[in-house]
Amino acid sequence: MLTTRQKQFNDFIRKIIKTKGVAPSEREVARHFRISASTAHEHLETLREKGYVYKERGRARSMSVIEPNGEKLILVPLLGRIAAGRPIEAIEDKKMIAVPQSRLPFPNGRYYALQVTGDSMIDANIKDKDTVLVKEQKTAENGQTVVALLDSNETTLKKFYKEQGHIRLQPANKNYEPIIVRSGRDFEIQGIVIDTMHGERNVVMQLPKRENIESYRELPLNKVICGDAVNIMQRMPENSIDLTVTSPPYDELRNYNGYMFDFEGMAKGLYRVIKDGGVLVWVVGDQTVKGNETGTSFRQALYFKQVGFNLFDTMIYLKTPRGAVGNNTAYWQTFEYMFVLSKGTPKTINLLKDRENKDERDGDRGTKRLSDGSLLKLKRAGYSKYRRRTNVWEYLIGKGHSASDNIAYQHPAIFPEKLVQDHIMSWSNPGDVVLDPMCGSGTTCKMAALNKRQYVGCDISKEYIELTRKRLKSYHL
Ligand SMILES: C[S@@+](CC[C@H](N)C(=O)[O-])C[C@H]1O[C@@H](n2cnc3c(N)ncnc32)[C@H](O)[C@@H]1O
Repeated sequence: MLTTRQKQFNDFIRKIIKTKGVAPSEREVARHFRISASTAHEHLETLREKGYVYKERGRARSMSVIEPNGEKLILVPLLGRIAAGRPIEAIEDKKMIAVPQSRLPFPNGRYYALQVTGDSMIDANIKDKDTVLVKEQKTAENGQTVVALLDSNETTLKKFYKEQGHIRLQPANKNYEPIIVRSGRDFEIQGIVIDTMHGERNVVMQLPKRENIESYRELPLNKVICGDAVNIMQRMPENSIDLTVTSPPYDELRNYNGYMFDFEGMAKGLYRVIKDGGVLVWVVGDQTVKGNETGTSFRQALYFKQVGFNLFDTMIYLKTPRGAVGNNTAYWQTFEYMFVLSKGTPKTINLLKDRENKDERDGDRGTKRLSDGSLLKLKRAGYSKYRRRTNVWEYLIGKGHSASDNIAYQHPAIFPEKLVQDHIMSWSNPGDVVLDPMCGSGTTCKMAALNKRQYVGCDISKEYIELTRKRLKSYHL
């Protein structure tokens, strides 16, 4: 409960925020109430302690209000500006905006906010510099205002209309032409606009620093850590990992002690900790539900691109056929994807050359007579016995093939050791740091150490961490 005086302060702050779009300074509060700055400060502190305002220490005008009716404010990530030419920035969710719960109509929905640039939606009351609140979803009904991703690289805010043979993205400003999206063009709905906040920059606040999360001063090299990789990566220094070779839980194909998996947090965390030029190898497959593949692998690959990764190569991990996918009408399932993603151009590329040529030949020189009688000097390139591999890699799997020790088989979904080794040799050099944020039985850690790289491993399951430690110990690693 607020005293009458405190209520006067609270009302004043809210009025200024509403009219000016920015919180009053302590000096303005003092001047308005004809009190000293220190008394104003004390009153504001009381409001903060009682939970009526949120204020960042040390930042002027960083105040925002908590609804007086006690309504909860939900923090929604502010993902950047919506402008042509770039996808929505989704790398760091450091800025959040506080939104009254009643403005978020679907309790289980995922929301984000974007700042608008431009005036193409002005007749829909969405102006330059407004903030729109977006519900994340992939579909929309005609007439809804959507955040649309075009050609995988341009994000735009328009009204959506599905019409005969095409989609029309309609601006709400007669000075702009609609965008017609014909079939075949890359198009994705990223969310629908559910609310617009005009001049409410005041509620934008930097998330308080997670002081209770202690960052590692240095990388925990050659260690395995138990915990959620999304949290563990937050503690790691940025740009510290040369190579990541990992594999997530695949849909619900396997049950790893029932842990939940935050893919988007994982993707952003990986982008943060991987060095410029570093590589992420993401090995993944889909589940098939009633003859319909989930497509999770593709969605993940595209999300990695959205976060900023470069999709360097989509490789195939070919293995012993696993059985028809749910019925006998499908071909035998025999591969998984290995998405090779890089932060910029990969800094290390050591292509494996172990595909045998039919024969080998030294280069030689010769001549060829041209039609005018002159001689043209020729240089013929030779070829060695081995040439570079294709991007389909085949491994024998199962007991006796995947791992050279027996401990690994206590995990339900291990990598073939050779697969990990081949990636380590391709995308890293001795001494480099190799991460597996979901290390399971520790295959990546083992192969990194055996190949003179340093490793960092984590897994959410205590049982698997113990397994990894036992496995590494058995090799004195
Ligand atoms: C496909 S398995 C990895 C197997 C591993 N490549 C190997 O060779 O043993 C996926 C692993 O992710 C772990 N996991 C799931 N969610 C996680 C999270 N949020 N943080 C860390 N590990 C997680 C599971 O416990 C499981 O061991």
